[in-house]
Amino acid sequence: MSEHYYTEKPKTASDRKAFAAELRGFKLQLTSDTGVFSRDGVDFGSRVLIDRMEIPIDASVLDLGCGYGPIGLTAARLAPRGHVVMVDINERAVALARENAERNGIANISAMQSDIYAAVEGRRFDVILSNPPIRAGKIVVHRILTEAKDHLNPGGSLWIVIQNKQGAPSAKAKLQEVFGEDAVEEVGKDKGYRIYRAKLV
Ligand SMILES: C[S@@+](CC[C@H](N)C(=O)[O-])C[C@H]1O[C@@H](n2cnc3c(N)ncnc32)[C@H](O)[C@@H]1O
Repeated sequence: MSEHYYTEKPKTASDRKAFAAELRGFKLQLTSDTGVFSRDGVDFGSRVLIDRMEIPIDASVLDLGCGYGPIGLTAARLAPRGHVVMVDINERAVALARENAERNGIANISAMQSDIYAAVEGRRFDVILSNPPIRAGKIVVHRILTEAKDHLNPGGSLWIVIQNKQGAPSAKAKLQEVFGEDAVEEVGKDKGYRIYRAKLV
């Protein structure tokens, strides 16, 4: 059985893959590997989120479940006067995110291993971005949604991408419960994917 992408220490033999991707007009050279999410290229859902996300130029950003880094690295390019913290439970993903930042000359990021928000306890951000790990289960996904509230600055926003068939309606309901009905907006959709923004007011 192939290993799931949300393991802490992938054991699958490394088989790296390098490719170029253009995201929000930025050309990035990326390396992925076995044992990490979407090895063969940037995931369609991640692209939908990247295309819609609004990142102030000086924003402090958290990319939760960063994988090899497409979302967080693009956010770092969009916020040259800000900073992006990239976290993932998978140590191979974190190492790749760091390497991909270096390779592209992106200095305004830090990457660290973290179980959900554990490594950023007590910290708050202007923007939290996530293509959440649906396969890790509802408990993990709902913790990402609910605990975002404790990690946002006033006026800050959580942006997530989720497929309709993988629970978009229940994620939206959970966000409305936590942030309030008027604070949650569907800000994009493409094929079966939905982008939700929850604003802390
Ligand atoms: C759907 S993937 C998205 C990866 C990356 N952002 C991308 O767009 O390619 C979700 C990521 O969440 C990570 N993840 C799973 N469980 C986690 C947890 N408990 N804490 C932090 N990250 C987790 C997985 O390892 C995976 O890299």
